[in-house]
Amino acid sequence: MRIVVASTPDAVAAEAARLVLDRVRQRPDLVLGLATGLTMVPFYRALLVRKAREHVSFDGLRIFALDEYRGGRPEQPGSCRGFLERHVLQQLDVPSGQIHLLDGLAPDAEAECARYEELMARTGGIDVQILGIGGNGHIGFNEPGSSLESRTRLAPLSQATRQANARQWGGDPQAVPSEALTMGIGTILSARTCLLLAFGAGKAAAVQSAIEGPVTASVPASALQRHSDTVFLLDEEAAARLSRRE
Ligand code: F6R
Repeated sequence: MRIVVASTPDAVAAEAARLVLDRVRQRPDLVLGLATGLTMVPFYRALLVRKAREHVSFDGLRIFALDEYRGGRPEQPGSCRGFLERHVLQQLDVPSGQIHLLDGLAPDAEAECARYEELMARTGGIDVQILGIGGNGHIGFNEPGSSLESRTRLAPLSQATRQANARQWGGDPQAVPSEALTMGIGTILSARTCLLLAFGAGKAAAVQSAIEGPVTASVPASALQRHSDTVFLLDEEAAARLSRRE
């Protein structure tokens, strides 16, 4: 595991964008897993700016979304699909047939998750997975207590996560769906490279537990200690509790 600390969220986002673009240049048909959430806003901004400046084509890329709220309609600003479309997908030259999203409205969630796992496997697996982290240590929507071997599935969202994400659902935690379809922790660990971004003091405790604590289902992000190519990209506030930075 590698830890990169930069002074501001924008500096972290720029470094993450640089890493992704380097990988796309090496492998134009890269399979990229994308997350949503406030952390991703400066990252997608930096990615789009740098991509344009450096004339990197994304037309060979394959994209998979990390998760989706159960019942989240695409036109709802809080839905992962809506978020990704607004912040990154509409501005990218990735053909729509190469963009794969979980359908939060699928009548059979289990079948939808199985379809997604199968599609990822057929595509050759995720090369680079972008991740944020919840204040409770979740990755994707794998809340504390999730099996470290879990695959894509329907999972319950904790009250803490519904509260934290309420701002994207009109401010009301009850308006946030109570379940989500999410790549499992095992699915995430199957990605060849994981890039986890975290900003702000509110993430410092989760970041410290993930990096320096025991590997435990109580802190899903701690599973990344078992992954051979993970980079934590942190601003100073998110890194504040770490006793080591390398
Ligand atoms: C969203 C996701 C979540 C977020 C996490 C942090 O697709 O997978 O794990 O990355 O909840 O969210 P923000 O960035 O809003 O603090």
